[in-house]
Amino acid sequence: MRLRNKNWTKDFIEENLKFLITTEEKINPTKFFLKKQDTFLEIGCGKGQFVINQAIENSNKNFIAMEKESTVIGVALKKALNKENFNLNNLLFLNRFAENLLDIFEVNSLKGIFLNFSDPWPKAKHYKKRLTYLTFLEIYWELLENNGIIEIKTDNDQLYNFSLDQIKESKFKVLYNTSDLYSNKDLLKDNIPTEYEQKFHSIGKKINKIIIKKEV
Ligand SMILES: C[S@@+](CC[C@H](N)C(=O)[O-])C[C@H]1O[C@@H](n2cnc3c(N)ncnc32)[C@H](O)[C@@H]1O
Repeated sequence: MRLRNKNWTKDFIEENLKFLITTEEKINPTKFFLKKQDTFLEIGCGKGQFVINQAIENSNKNFIAMEKESTVIGVALKKALNKENFNLNNLLFLNRFAENLLDIFEVNSLKGIFLNFSDPWPKAKHYKKRLTYLTFLEIYWELLENNGIIEIKTDNDQLYNFSLDQIKESKFKVLYNTSDLYSNKDLLKDNIPTEYEQKFHSIGKKINKIIIKKEV
């Protein structure tokens, strides 16, 4: 996601650096949050609606919102700071590209990972860039604590089917998968929609969801 005319985001981020993790060292989340509690990572948080609402609704959990585009981080951070009565001590932003994640995070340091509407990389030759490619799943396995989960949502049926195939090759256990999230009342009860989800759902596109678990 690229955003135009967002020159203000550079200064805005500089003024609010305390809401970002900027270390070059490997991240052990417990060092960065006020409370020692489970940490969840969203990769590609976009404008942040999902992760901000997660943090508001789950003050007993910590969240890291990772996003490669700094302008997008600026927009998400502004949205978080504009929320009334949200003290923002369980949400931090991370302006990094999700590659070599084992160089970015300590192993066994995350309780969950969210992949919401990840770039589908539709061309067959780009399949290794998809965030659910087996190599990524193997890295997530290392980063997750035992019983950690990954939740994947996508409007893209090709990415959904690709992800299920890759998961079969991995050590993860599928807890749930559906090609129509909005027809499942149980899953919808706790569902926090993302910006992309709202857009696609509003035009009648079915939303796919997969939940997988690390069990050793
Ligand atoms: C299609 S948007 C979805 C945004 C949001 N998750 C949502 O559902 O509304 C994908 C986002 O992931 C970011 N992104 C894509 N690949 C990434 C990567 N490898 N590392 C970090 N962010 C990435 C993009 O910049 C973009 O903001």
